[in-house]
Amino acid sequence: MAVAIDSRIKNFRAYDVAARRAEVAGQTGLTDADIQTFEPGAGLTIDQADRMVENVIGVIGIPVGIATNFTINGKDYLIPLATEEPSVVAAASNAARIARGLGGFHVSSTQPIMQAQIQVVDVLDPAAARIRLLEARAELIALANEQDPMLVSFGGGVQEVSVRLVTAPEQTYVVLHIHVDVRDAMGANAVNTMAEAIAPRVAEIAGGRVVLRILTNKADLRLTRVRAVFDAELIGSPEVVDNLIHAVRLAECDPYRAATHNKGIMNGISAAVLATGNDTRAVEAGCHSHAVNADGVYSSLSHFEKDADGNIVGTLELPMPVGLVGGATKVHPVAQAAVKMLGVETAEELAGVIMAVGLAQNLAAVRVLAGEGVQRGHMGLHARNIAATAGAEKHEIDAVVARLVADKKIRVEHAVEVLAELRGGN
Ligand code: MEV
Repeated sequence: MAVAIDSRIKNFRAYDVAARRAEVAGQTGLTDADIQTFEPGAGLTIDQADRMVENVIGVIGIPVGIATNFTINGKDYLIPLATEEPSVVAAASNAARIARGLGGFHVSSTQPIMQAQIQVVDVLDPAAARIRLLEARAELIALANEQDPMLVSFGGGVQEVSVRLVTAPEQTYVVLHIHVDVRDAMGANAVNTMAEAIAPRVAEIAGGRVVLRILTNKADLRLTRVRAVFDAELIGSPEVVDNLIHAVRLAECDPYRAATHNKGIMNGISAAVLATGNDTRAVEAGCHSHAVNADGVYSSLSHFEKDADGNIVGTLELPMPVGLVGGATKVHPVAQAAVKMLGVETAEELAGVIMAVGLAQNLAAVRVLAGEGVQRGHMGLHARNIAATAGAEKHEIDAVVARLVADKKIRVEHAVEVLAELRGGN
């Protein structure tokens, strides 16, 4: 079993891959077999992949990096992030360091309530149909719960039904929602099964015909919140801190900036969701549906304010429909090792970790934008790729990168010239 984790690992970046694996295994209790799943070619087998989706011809490798420095509700985590984008892992770790001294991240959640919708069309008396359906609440809940006795035995199941009238130009649809406590599941299968099972009875009571019976990804009854205080001195100069607030205000008021700002949040969230085998699109759809503010305008998902000490308080509240049971989380060996590394015991705990990464990622991006801009950092990483493309060996890469950056010519042709020079000893 894992011992208490200390996520503050100095200079983790400078470790080689083997040393990083040893550090993570030592801290989290991952076995050699668990660690081995992260080796390209040793994770998801072709047979497992063939059972997961159709027409399989292979698997794609995505780097998994470890975000350090995270303290969440007083507990340290080493967080696996699966992403193809440079800077995401470093940025999240950096922002977590800035929050660490001031208590780290504080997370809380609602109950894990997912909803499915049943759409009834051609109803003559939609208002009365709504009332008839609500009168049948107990019958509908019992019928739905019969579909999943296991979930009910774990304390989950249908908690409520609600009925909405949605007026389209052609007619008013009667839309019944079931609100289901899905416990540690993402919940799509459970709520879809229930919705399909009760649909005929819903049609009968409403006096119409059912078309859709499917989960809504607007999981606004399954919210997770995160709050952290970021140390102004570690963020940068007073000017950077003030610029950061301006940058965030623009995201709150301008959909063009909000989309990019929110993309920064999703850089962290999707990477953690993917590493744990959860459904990235479900989470993304839920988060984006939450980005419309009270005035009906697409806006920033996060908020940053200055506190009395001049530090920056960041907050984020989002639907976070992730699970620990079922789906790829249970069958994908790398996802299983990732969950084990995190040591999370409930889907709620996992949701909190993911949200902390999202907030950290966002702060880190906006901090860089408020200061030197993203290109300088990106250029170094871009130069590494160019050096490798030009054929530089591992031991040559640093020297080639240094020259490309110094010459401000980050192009493959130049990397080839530099490499030839270095190899020729000129
Ligand atoms: C790039 O992947 C993400 C950023 O554009 C986010 C932002 O602008 O806040 C840097």
